[in-house]
Amino acid sequence: MIIAVDGPAASGKGTIARALAAHYHLPHLDTGLLYRAVGSGVARNGADPDNEADAAAACAFPDTMLDDPELRSEAAGTLASRVSRHPLVRAALLERQRAFASQPGGAVLDGRDIGTVIAPEADAKLFVTASADIRARRRHLQGQSRPYDIILADILARDTRDSGRSTAPLRQAKDAALLDTSNLTIDAAVRKAIALVEEQLKRNR
Ligand code: C5P
Repeated sequence: MIIAVDGPAASGKGTIARALAAHYHLPHLDTGLLYRAVGSGVARNGADPDNEADAAAACAFPDTMLDDPELRSEAAGTLASRVSRHPLVRAALLERQRAFASQPGGAVLDGRDIGTVIAPEADAKLFVTASADIRARRRHLQGQSRPYDIILADILARDTRDSGRSTAPLRQAKDAALLDTSNLTIDAAVRKAIALVEEQLKRNR
């Protein structure tokens, strides 16, 4: 069983994907980490994240790099968003994600294009969202030292870049269930996510 969870930054999709993976006893891949690894690799090489060839050259990183806590930083998120618009980068990371999705037993993957490009055949698809204001507040409460206004501006810029790119833009798959977490606690959002997945599984049976 493949479960695809997509949505913008700080929508709660990562938390929901991890909870779904635990609930259904499936392995989970946070695909954002792959783009973060590429972005950080480019920066480490002293290369230009907006240059497609430079970004493509950083795609062959070892899996161990995904454990680097630095990848979770806001700076790595911005670099990821800049390298992720290059078609060569998306192509280089495609097989890695498809192989993870198609492993025996299935998997949960979260990202931006899982339901549309990586696993269009997924058994269940969620598009997790929340207002930009709520997402910025969450990041602020998570202890980021930057002022709220700067975090909000960053989130809006990332939304524009991720939704506006020509290759695999962020958008809800036609057959994905929408889950707006703006006014939900984490527990309520997870319960709702499980209910939506169950509905889709029943419908597809
Ligand atoms: O989800 P996360 O914030 O870690 O993703 C970082 C960036 O990586 C996103 O802003 C997006 O540009 C890119 N990304 C993507 N496709 C995915 C996952 C992430 O383009 N499947």
